[in-house]
Amino acid sequence: MKSTAKLKVLPSPAGPAEAKPGVTLVQLRREAANCKACDLWKTATQTVFGEGMAGAVIMLLGEQPGDAEDRAGRPFVGPAGKLLDEALAKAGIDRRDVYVTNVVKHFKWSAAERGKRRIHQKPRDSEIKACRPWLDAEIAAVKPRVLVCLGATAAQSLLGKRFRVTQQRGKVVPSQFAPQVVATVHPSSILRARDDTSRRAQMEEFVRDLQYIGKLAKRAAA
Ligand code: URA
Repeated sequence: MKSTAKLKVLPSPAGPAEAKPGVTLVQLRREAANCKACDLWKTATQTVFGEGMAGAVIMLLGEQPGDAEDRAGRPFVGPAGKLLDEALAKAGIDRRDVYVTNVVKHFKWSAAERGKRRIHQKPRDSEIKACRPWLDAEIAAVKPRVLVCLGATAAQSLLGKRFRVTQQRGKVVPSQFAPQVVATVHPSSILRARDDTSRRAQMEEFVRDLQYIGKLAKRAAA
């Protein structure tokens, strides 16, 4: 991690109450590991904090870790993450140059009726709100020039409940979080496509959005 800024105030272990500018990603990650700001920590394996470098030009923001991420402790490493990696590669973006994180840092799930599968549950507004100071602190530490919301949960949590990814995807939206904020679909929506033809078309559109995001990032970094 590149951030060298001195620690000012760390969030409390009970929750991210006071994430001040100057706190490094390493310090935030360490503190977030003990977060109990909502109840999701009780059933999750661990906090899944963001991954990448301070100063990354692009920040990708998902909803919450899934089953694989919960076990690995890293964001976007399961099926949706693999699809994201493939789309980033096709768009000419190196994932190692990107900061990847989620709005909620614990996996929310319920047990499948049969078997041992853990079924993803959408986070509540109160859980999103409880986790928000971590995201604000990540944004303050990374200072991305292009912030990309993947899917409705991420987009609506930053841009308001009325934001519609279907209508506004791929458009730069004015916001205080970064010079350029753009929303696109969540990669898991592509995994849920009804057939191969539709999946291929959705993937192509997603790659086009990422190519545009790559161009924005190049311009911002120039
Ligand atoms: N879905 C997300 O929104 N985030 C992850 O990290 C994995 C799947």
